[in-house]
Amino acid sequence: MKSSADIRKLFLDFFASKGHEVVASSPLVPANDPTLLFTNAGMVQFKETFLGQETRKYTRAVTTQRCVRAGGKHNDLENVGYTARHHTFFEMLGNFSFGDYFKREAIQYAWEFLTETLALPAEKLWITVFEEDDEAADIWLNEIGVSAERFSRIGAKDNFWSMGDTGPCGPCSEIFYDHGGDVAGGPPGTPEEDGDRYIEIWNLVFMQFNRSADGTLTPLPKPSVDTGMGLERLAAVLQHVHNNYEIDLFQHLIQAIQKLSGTEDHTNFSLRVIADHIRSCSFMITDGVYPSNEGRGYVLRRIIRRAIRHGHKLGLKDNFFYKLVQPLVDEMGEAFPELAQSQELVEKALQQEETRFADTLDNGLKILDQAIEDMGDKEIPGETVFLLYDTYGFPIDLTADIARERGLTIDIAGFERAMEAQRNRARSASQFSGGLSDQITIDSSTEFCGYDLTQHDSTILAIIVNGEHVDSISEGQEGLIVLDKTPFYAESGGQVGDHGEINADNASFTVSDTRKQSQAFTHIGRCEHGRFQVGQRVTAQIDENNRLATALNHSATHLLHAALRKVLGEHVMQKGSLVNPQRLRFDFSHFEPVTPAQLREIERLVNQQIRLNHPVETRLMAIEEAKKSGAMALFGEKYDDEVRVLSMSDFSIELCGGTHVKQTGDIGMLKITSEAGIASGVRRIEAVTGEKAIDYIEQMETTLADVSDLLKAKPANVQDKASQLVQRQRELEKELEALKAKLASSAGNDLADSATEINGIKVLASTLEGADGKSLRDAVDQLKNKLGTAVIALTAVNDEKITIIAGVTKDITDKIRAGDLVGHIASQVGGKGGGRPDMAQGGGNEPQNLAAALASVPDWVTSKLEN
Ligand code: ALA
Repeated sequence: MKSSADIRKLFLDFFASKGHEVVASSPLVPANDPTLLFTNAGMVQFKETFLGQETRKYTRAVTTQRCVRAGGKHNDLENVGYTARHHTFFEMLGNFSFGDYFKREAIQYAWEFLTETLALPAEKLWITVFEEDDEAADIWLNEIGVSAERFSRIGAKDNFWSMGDTGPCGPCSEIFYDHGGDVAGGPPGTPEEDGDRYIEIWNLVFMQFNRSADGTLTPLPKPSVDTGMGLERLAAVLQHVHNNYEIDLFQHLIQAIQKLSGTEDHTNFSLRVIADHIRSCSFMITDGVYPSNEGRGYVLRRIIRRAIRHGHKLGLKDNFFYKLVQPLVDEMGEAFPELAQSQELVEKALQQEETRFADTLDNGLKILDQAIEDMGDKEIPGETVFLLYDTYGFPIDLTADIARERGLTIDIAGFERAMEAQRNRARSASQFSGGLSDQITIDSSTEFCGYDLTQHDSTILAIIVNGEHVDSISEGQEGLIVLDKTPFYAESGGQVGDHGEINADNASFTVSDTRKQSQAFTHIGRCEHGRFQVGQRVTAQIDENNRLATALNHSATHLLHAALRKVLGEHVMQKGSLVNPQRLRFDFSHFEPVTPAQLREIERLVNQQIRLNHPVETRLMAIEEAKKSGAMALFGEKYDDEVRVLSMSDFSIELCGGTHVKQTGDIGMLKITSEAGIASGVRRIEAVTGEKAIDYIEQMETTLADVSDLLKAKPANVQDKASQLVQRQRELEKELEALKAKLASSAGNDLADSATEINGIKVLASTLEGADGKSLRDAVDQLKNKLGTAVIALTAVNDEKITIIAGVTKDITDKIRAGDLVGHIASQVGGKGGGRPDMAQGGGNEPQNLAAALASVPDWVTSKLEN
């Protein structure tokens, strides 16, 4: 029996033997393509090659591409687990021609591979072509000789393939496998086609057009070929199983889940969902997506939570999902080494999300069960769906999944209404709906000479003012200048664009930033005087100090990246970077705060490498060779075939197009200034280098010196002195408290004598200098004991604020309540208060009225007694 791994290899080898370059799968996050949520087909990484915007050193390629179809144009999430062959993640085998062969060879290769290499019987295959494609029909029927009985012409819905709303597209020809008469279903194009008998296994797309946002089709520069065959489906055919989940690859994953859950029936539907989901989730994380509430991260969160819920159904109550990463790596780590490399990171990210959801899953399920019990019809109310979403973290499709299992539906419109307020967040996912940038097109291309030069004489190729191409720019105008050759570095890879000047006789232009658009470098700035025109010769001069300060930070970033991986582990991957003349900022994957000790070690390691003064070397090499040399590349970044590899001894080897120092010693020193978490699983370090690091240390020293002065200690003794002071302060606070209590009690004794008597009740209303709330309460308690039946109000004034405490002995609280007394006084001093009948507290802020308020107490008591 051919394993999935065998089939993958047979495919790659077959096309390699036909002159195809074996190209690695690109990541799931498409590089530089805002129109696509996830890579959903093999052709995605070749989009620009099809469009003629990029040339490669080969015209034929073969890949096994990791794909996700969830949450975008091609979305299969809802069906996963319910059907025999829907997956969120799958591998697409594909061969490609970029203006090389076209329909004839594409069809011949496909037929040869299926019927000879894999030895599938011709009578088991069914062919379709686009209804208008006579050429393809002729090749199939007359050259290959397939039977007209197993051949049909189909309309654009199924036989015209587009990558998305925009991009390359064309008519296609599909190959189906007939699983035999005992399976229900009819041939493609018949009303019964959705049955399981005829299964599409291969799609040959004859790429001919580029679809633009308004729907128009423009012919591609050269007709090309893009094919796609799901590895899992093909494996099912060759392994004589009818359900993709029965193939070797899935069975190994399913067995691992059975082991964890003790589920006996290997066809259990939750097992299948989980086996599918661990693949998409692990690869998404490998490719830099983390669970979050928006965009790709939210798609990932939805899939993880769906898997966790299915685990819950199998009785898996503790974190389990992350334990499936190991079996997945065993299964796919060889074909996709990047997965094996990220194993630890993937496990941590999944475990963190499981822990987060575990808190709410149980409660959410209870709420849902209750709602289902209470409801009259078959529809779960929108408010319940929203409550589960908003408070319990149940993505709507998770609730829908549960509803579907129980033969219920959910009220989506009601959910939408309840959701209205939260809409904005979810909107970010729809930014992937299409619409390429509407920037102005610049056809020119610029050669960069700034690795070696800081100044160059060049020719102006284009000038843009107010978003339009113009012939000239004059004094006072702002705009963009494009040169044929420039020493200005254009912003990329986190490094900011260069500043500087463009000069000509009697004219100068200040460049405040440099950007890249397609092949052109745009110098952004202002014409200070004179006039520049297209075609003119000018001198371009960068600001060298600015460039050098930036270079220190860029080279230091590479050392920091390497040091982070050494100290924290290989799971550390760059997630973002900013390098400017002032500082560097580096974002990376890591799941807990970096401890102060680790930060010190990282900083030490970097500074050690700086002192070793390694030469900083760059070499140009082929991308494959660079990867073999161990150079760190960024996932999701698109590299040319030839890349620059930057190394600092063997401590740091990275692909990089930026500008750097000559020797690590030039950096001088690195000082980390902060470390913090910025998103789940992503940390950020900020640091300074060179002169800025010295400034930073000087500033720290100045602060230390100021503090030492204040403490009258030598800097070396500041710590001892400060802790002595803190200790002393604590002691003093205690002493002060004791003294206040003492004061209150002796003052209280004196006060007892000044009480007046009304109907046998002692009445006392007075102010105690220097007391606080606590000492006032103590004094009131003591006075109550001393005076017998009594009504007492004591106040204190601190910083214009009045504290009032009133006490009434229990024997008379039926007539006079402490709370009322406080209210009586407080109302006269701009405040309020309340409390128990025998003890109450209040405040006020009009000390000038306090004496009168206290004087009114005896009359108030009298009036209460009369009532
Ligand atoms: N790009 C084509 C598909 O995805 C081959 O079906």
